[in-house]
Amino acid sequence: MSNTPHPGHSDGADVVERIERNWAIVAVGLIVVLVAMVVYTGLHWAMMPPSRVETIDPRKLHIAGEFVENNLGTTLGADGKVIVRLIAQQYSFEPQCLVVPAGMPVTFRATSTDVIHGFVVDKTNANVMLIPGFIATFTTRFDKAGERLMPCHEYCGTGHGAMWGRVQVLPAEVFLAKAKSGERMSCVPR
Ligand code: CUA
Repeated sequence: MSNTPHPGHSDGADVVERIERNWAIVAVGLIVVLVAMVVYTGLHWAMMPPSRVETIDPRKLHIAGEFVENNLGTTLGADGKVIVRLIAQQYSFEPQCLVVPAGMPVTFRATSTDVIHGFVVDKTNANVMLIPGFIATFTTRFDKAGERLMPCHEYCGTGHGAMWGRVQVLPAEVFLAKAKSGERMSCVPR
């Protein structure tokens, strides 16, 4: 065919080439947009992969160590650091209601006793998976005082939909007045 002059041929090839080029531009454009979204959310929400791995034996959580019942909840250390420890299990968080201060860095340390659960505090970037055998830890800051919901966001069994807790974000001065060094705080009604 190449030696035979063909009036329509080169036009057809042009059209095909143009369509293919347009599709290539769309495909490359999509990739650029998706990568830009990943970079933007990563920087804007400070979402980062965990920087280290800490393991724990989920069968012994209740017996000894950091995650025994009377060590759960919020503590204000002598150094002024706020640490919240909690565990997830089918189908609840322990404690069910967390107290944190607004406008101060808060470090969470959490794990699961049984299956994989999800931990998220609504309208914040506090969002992590709780995996048995591993301690999830991250530091965040709550801008506004108020009450937030803390649902499990990883399907963990038939009771998953009913697995959620609350987070009470107190104004920093109210929190500091309430907190006594060394004491575990929560807002679970007694
Ligand atoms: Cu725990 Cu879903």
